[in-house]
Amino acid sequence: MILIIGAFGQLGSVLTQKLQIKWGVNRVVASDITVNTNYKGLYEQLDATNYKALEQIVIKYRITEIYHLAAILSANGEKDPLRSWDINMTSLLNVLEVSRTQRIHKIFYPSSIAVFGPNADSVNTPQSPNLTPETIYGMSKVAGENWVNYYHKKYGLDIRSLRYPGIIGYQSFPGGGTTDYAVDIYHKAIKNEHFLCFLNSSTQLPMMFMDDAIRATIELMDAPKEKITVRTSYNLASMSFTPKELVKSIQKYYPNFKITYQPDSRQNIANSWPKSIDDSKARVDWGWQSYFDLDQMTKIMIEKLSEYYSIATV
Ligand code: SER
Repeated sequence: MILIIGAFGQLGSVLTQKLQIKWGVNRVVASDITVNTNYKGLYEQLDATNYKALEQIVIKYRITEIYHLAAILSANGEKDPLRSWDINMTSLLNVLEVSRTQRIHKIFYPSSIAVFGPNADSVNTPQSPNLTPETIYGMSKVAGENWVNYYHKKYGLDIRSLRYPGIIGYQSFPGGGTTDYAVDIYHKAIKNEHFLCFLNSSTQLPMMFMDDAIRATIELMDAPKEKITVRTSYNLASMSFTPKELVKSIQKYYPNFKITYQPDSRQNIANSWPKSIDDSKARVDWGWQSYFDLDQMTKIMIEKLSEYYSIATV
């Protein structure tokens, strides 16, 4: 039985569906702090900072695998640093402890490009540079990666992790991240609205189409244990682009699409992150390969969101 924590988030909502298809609806328990009355399947409302509540669900459903996707992301994390740290760390430590005591077979923990800071090379950022992030989110992910590695080494927990780039999908909205603009921009283009971008035109960041991100997660979790040589978190890459390049890609469909750049505090966060990532460890260890580039992603985003808003593609 699989438990997903943060099942209604940007990644969670898509991953939950994929896991339902892969394993069967009755083998997946979705949990989230929010309620979604449209959700079809097993569901428990859960605040993952509450250990007892988490433990009860694990026992009730005889959970054997956990995907812990709940977290406060980079931009939101800066609004209340101590609270963000507390939520991100307490929920992870609860997952680790419940996994140790209830003998969970496999756990997934997402990390992020936010673990890197200005002391890491920003182009083709390697797997193990000096990690000095400048956000609470990044700090919590660095600490989290080390906790994950510790539980693996000390207790033999099979916990696996990926450092996701910004994730872009048509199925769900991100919440409170620095890469969120790259999802929002498509919605604005399709609705023929002007887009106000909180990053400047030349801010290059590593990004990934949702389908690649989900496939990476499933491939990592399916890989034989002996192939997993990185027990902190794997660098993971697909494409890198700037807002300006993204606008160009969108303007192939919407030539009149307009953007205004108005950088805010998220610009500082983006400036401290890599431009591109070296993911050769993931490629060598478990055969990672991304499929989608910027223009392929744009085509699908525009098709799917046009359907969603019931607007014919131009
Ligand atoms: N997409 C995330 C953020 O912007 C990075 O992991 O916070």
